Amino acid sequence: MKAVLLTSHGGPEMLRYGEAPDPTAGPGEVVVDIHAASVNAADYKVRVGGAYGNIKFPHILGRDFSGVVSAVGPGVTDLAIGDDVFGVTDQGIEGTYAEKVAVKAAIIAKKPDHLGHAEAAALALTSLTALWAIEDTAHLKAGETILIQGGAGGVAGFGIQLAKHLGAVVITTASAGNHAYVRSLGADQVIDYNVEDFATKVSNCDVVFDTVGGDVRVGSYTVLRPGGRLVWVAPAPERFRPPRTDVDTLRPNVIRDRAHLERMLALLDAGAVRPPTITRYKLANAAEAHRVSESRHLRGKLVLEVR
Ligand SMILES: NC(=O)c1ccc[n+]([C@@H]2O[C@H](COP(=O)([O-])OP(=O)(O)OC[C@H]3O[C@@H](n4cnc5c(N)ncnc54)[C@H](OP(=O)(O)O)[C@@H]3O)[C@@H](O)[C@H]2O)c1
Repeated sequence: MKAVLLTSHGGPEMLRYGEAPDPTAGPGEVVVDIHAASVNAADYKVRVGGAYGNIKFPHILGRDFSGVVSAVGPGVTDLAIGDDVFGVTDQGIEGTYAEKVAVKAAIIAKKPDHLGHAEAAALALTSLTALWAIEDTAHLKAGETILIQGGAGGVAGFGIQLAKHLGAVVITTASAGNHAYVRSLGADQVIDYNVEDFATKVSNCDVVFDTVGGDVRVGSYTVLRPGGRLVWVAPAPERFRPPRTDVDTLRPNVIRDRAHLERMLALLDAGAVRPPTITRYKLANAAEAHRVSESRHLRGKLVLEVR
């Protein structure tokens, strides 16, 4: 099969389009012929060596996908060859920048016809992450105020829609060019972080969802009310210690499971969320998508079209 192979840690030029062995379906697994895979911020971090430091090269990046089941392993009874499916590889496993992937059947879901492959891939890891963070970890309630850092990104964009659906007041940060986009997702207040310090514009938040990290995390503590919750998916500066003991600092465990993918589909059917803005690339052009991802200023999701 064709795949994008990471040949060594380094720049986007380390991604080579070439041949890789076809995967086989082990017990409890299916092989999916991938139609679309999404690019997540985690991918360039793995590429440069910041995560999964001991990977074996050539390595195939990529965590989420949408496609069609082409082989079924022993013990799989709920999926069949020809089913449209989408999902996220298990924690610690990658390989969706490719024409095929083997994945545990239990952690993926059937894709409805009304959702395109690109849209399903774009929603897979972002929706799991936002659902685990906002519903299962922060337990955001109607009437609460949440500040979502980095609203134009993949995870945060889903988070804005989810938080609005749950009945929260949603404040977010974005560059001026993305303000109309994040408002269209449901943000009640948008702060242009390039010209204003969010820490002086917001106070008394019940929840902060930090998808940016670094100095943004440091400043986020000042906007929380006593007893507030800071839930994060992007790391703080090295050796950072939370400056307050009267707020909770929470990291979601983004477990891959069918239940959360189906929760996302139910939200989609209810009209509570919609797919993000998508920029499409051919699989062979993954390096180009990585340059955009690594710039940290994009809107919505970058998706690799495989078929
Ligand atoms: N399992 C997990 O824990 C998990 C899962 C998924 C993602 N993550 C992490 O979550 C983070 C976000 O991932 P993602 O894929 O959603 O990222 P992304 O789609 O690449 O988001 C980048 C966005 O960040 C915004 N941004 C950059 N600097 C900003 C700042 N200082 N203030 C506000 N917004 C800023 C940019 O918007 P503008 O152009 O408007 O600046 C851009 O839209 C990453 O660190 C990723 O590794 C963790």
